[in-house]
Amino acid sequence: MKILSIIGARPQFVKEAIVQHEISKYDDIEEVVVHTGQHYDNNMSGVFFQVLNMRKPDYNLGISGASHGEMTGKMIIELEKIMIKEKPDVVLLYGDTNSTLAGAIAASKLKIKIAHVEAGLRQEPKDMPEETNRVITDRISDYLFTASNLGVKNLKSEGIEEGVYFTGDVMYDIFLKMKPKFNYSLMKKLNLEENKFIIMTMHRDFNVDNNEKLEKILMQVNKVAQEIKVVFPIHPRTKKRINEFGLEDLIKNIIVIEPIDYLQLMGLTERCLKVITDSGGYQKEAYFAGKKAVIIMPDTSWRELTDLNWNILTDENNIYDNVMNNREVDYIENIYGDGKAAQKIVSILRKN
Ligand code: UD1
Repeated sequence: MKILSIIGARPQFVKEAIVQHEISKYDDIEEVVVHTGQHYDNNMSGVFFQVLNMRKPDYNLGISGASHGEMTGKMIIELEKIMIKEKPDVVLLYGDTNSTLAGAIAASKLKIKIAHVEAGLRQEPKDMPEETNRVITDRISDYLFTASNLGVKNLKSEGIEEGVYFTGDVMYDIFLKMKPKFNYSLMKKLNLEENKFIIMTMHRDFNVDNNEKLEKILMQVNKVAQEIKVVFPIHPRTKKRINEFGLEDLIKNIIVIEPIDYLQLMGLTERCLKVITDSGGYQKEAYFAGKKAVIIMPDTSWRELTDLNWNILTDENNIYDNVMNNREVDYIENIYGDGKAAQKIVSILRKN
């Protein structure tokens, strides 16, 4: 069997890593890996391949930075050429980025089977790019691997039942696998003490592309930073906007650092008090590490955690109050499977 895996953005490297480790156990599977180039800075891309022991992609398309339409369109053109050349039995896609959607469209037009890892997620606002990408990808996928039961339920409500498998979350698999290697060196370097700092990540278009909203968010976080250290590995998109809008003064009290690799981020997360984020993946990784997250979003696709009150959603005006509120909530384990999602995914693909 030949699998063509398509990745392009940071969270996809993390997900592909564990699936790739699993695939490599089988002689009867050939995997071709295509990196679209969507994320290209070494600290957003290259370093993940190193720390997660991944092999170099077979193709790198070098497509990034343009408008969504242009980026997706260019990816479709180039991915189609590779699919025609490689003739895979199945195209493996992850999550909800433009690279995911481009892969889905290219494969569908060539009538190649599509497998979607992290299928069935749904969230408001409907017009966020990730939502468009995941809804369309699910609609045309043949194998839909969900991270939780909610994914199965969401798909069912849209009439998608065939090819749906609840496998659990590959991000949980990789978290468990890499745990012994988590890197705590930034604790010392940044002069941090256990449980006495907060980690923040933020990059969503609806939070960072609007001047007023970004200003309000940063004012709130600035207020938090008066009471407890806030470490902020800054996404290139967010950095760009802060400069463009002239909001640099608002991050002076925050410990702003360049994006860090997976092992460093997980190391810090295990030692922090709480997380502030608008990342889909990171709100869940905080939970894996036993930490609560305050999510700057009107909705989340990981509702299991907000239903439990473990994670909490906030608007731009209530970040401080939500962070300072010490919620007593019992930790419930294994919401996202048993750490064997990648094994199940590869086994289902082999059987079929
Ligand atoms: C993308 C995904 C999002 C995912 C996120 C993880 C889409 C629609 N969005 O958002 O779902 O959660 O990745 O980070 O696919 N940039 C750099 N260097 C890089 C990467 C990006 O400078 O290595 C710049 C780009 O040039 C662009 C901006 O950051 O101007 C945003 O990058 P883009 O890939 O469009 O989307 P993300 O916000 O990263």
